[in-house]
Amino acid sequence: MERTAAVVLAAGKGSRMGSTIHKQYMELCGKPLLYHTLRAFEESSVDEIVLVTGPGEVPFCQNEIVDRYGFSKISAVTEGGSERYHSVYAGLKAVKDCAYVLIHDGARPCVTKEIIDASRTAAITYGACVVGMPVKDTIKISDENGYAALTPDRTSLWQIQTPQAFRYDLVLRAYNRLMESESFQKGVTDDAMVVETMTKEKVKLIQGDYTNIKVTTPEDLEIASVFLNRIYGKK
Ligand code: CTP
Ligand code: MG
Repeated sequence: MERTAAVVLAAGKGSRMGSTIHKQYMELCGKPLLYHTLRAFEESSVDEIVLVTGPGEVPFCQNEIVDRYGFSKISAVTEGGSERYHSVYAGLKAVKDCAYVLIHDGARPCVTKEIIDASRTAAITYGACVVGMPVKDTIKISDENGYAALTPDRTSLWQIQTPQAFRYDLVLRAYNRLMESESFQKGVTDDAMVVETMTKEKVKLIQGDYTNIKVTTPEDLEIASVFLNRIYGKK
């Protein structure tokens, strides 16, 4: 059984975007940003999609995104929580039936069917995988006074993206443990960390694409529109 679900996260407030409208609903190439993300999953090999929205946003998402654009793989629209990991946990619990699950930031609209399908295949092979890309810039760790303290070897550094894909039982076990342990909840920024820390399972790194950016600040919208036009132009 290789039935696969996707949990698409759209419960954030987009505070770094500095816009009154949450970034997942901002217009990008003539449609809400979240439309582009969901479209890639709709066209991929995943069997069901759980959409996680902000408190009170379920009816809006159901009407203005799911029904309006006719997404047919969405099995649930559910409310997330105050931190990303709360939203992930809500999404995992809302999945109907799957052996594998891909967790994806709704704010990454340039994800492609190819990246999604490669994540699913790697999850089936390795049990746990995340997409990322080798870091291009030199990274420095600063000391508390803002001076460069350490320069880690760039050849082993990756910038991590989503989807992050796992055996469903493994990631659910990891999140069940995380929810019981407040000390581990601090500083959780991705799902691989949760699986690594809570289960000691190894997470495979696979290459995604430099274009699979997370829309975080206003200039990212301009960059994403260039990448999306390229994706749509290819069809
Ligand atoms: N997210 C979520 N629930 C939260 C926080 C974030 O579902 N409590 C989602 C966001 O909607 C986004 C993804 O997780 O798709 C990555 O988070 P991020 O880029 O940090 O988005 P925001 O938290 O919305 O932005 P900011 O941190 O600038 O407020
Ligand atoms: Mg955030």
